[in-house]
Amino acid sequence: MTQIEIIKALSDNYIYILHNPINKQTAVIDPGEAHPVIDLLEKKGWKLSHIFNTHHHEDHIGGNQKLIDKYNCKLIAPKYDQNRIHNCDHYVLDGDEIDIIGNKGQVFYTPGHTIGHICYYIESLKILFSGDTLFRLGCGRIFEGTFEQMKDSLDKILNLPDDTLVYCGHEYTMSNANFCKSLVYNNDEELDASILEIRNLRDEEKPTIPFFLGQEKKLNPFLRYNDINFKIANNIQKLNSVETFKYFRKLKDNY
Ligand SMILES: [Fe+2]
Repeated sequence: MTQIEIIKALSDNYIYILHNPINKQTAVIDPGEAHPVIDLLEKKGWKLSHIFNTHHHEDHIGGNQKLIDKYNCKLIAPKYDQNRIHNCDHYVLDGDEIDIIGNKGQVFYTPGHTIGHICYYIESLKILFSGDTLFRLGCGRIFEGTFEQMKDSLDKILNLPDDTLVYCGHEYTMSNANFCKSLVYNNDEELDASILEIRNLRDEEKPTIPFFLGQEKKLNPFLRYNDINFKIANNIQKLNSVETFKYFRKLKDNY
């Protein structure tokens, strides 16, 4: 049984700690800073064995070196970022099967937000660490890749089962929900019920993460590029899937 802890970091980042009580290994996903990770590990009495990075942005890797210096842990990072993430022990590629503290993990190459971005999937636990590719009711901005690349990356995530729990890199959910409300939903009752739940969590200062992929498939506008009813509702039924994704992404960029 792997335990997962959520740490709030920087202004709106999430850092995830995974602990396997059987083999005593502990991993961190995207430590944007070191001190909240160290604080939690000391409170729990855990020793860090592995760091996993999804992409090279400083708010995801900023704590790497301090944690390596303190714990002598192994760093796993995307091969595509080999010139931008240093001191890595194991660079990984799309489709690689890797060990994540005793669980079989899989690497998905998901370029778009950055050109080297990857996600980590653990099928046995039904969890996905999506970094800045997929957010709740949103997706990452296209900084380095193309709209087509990002849409193809989201396709890979769409292929995962509905009961996959997604752990993403940021708490952007409330502003994403506001953007969703500016669109026309053919299933707005479902959206409103979800937003009510999100608002209640935020009022209590709780994370809106993790979230089920199945609900995102129905509500996230960036995953609905093949959903003809949603496209008709927004009067963009003539656009193909890449054009549809680009249309929503550009609307959000200017929202
Ligand atoms: Fe990022």
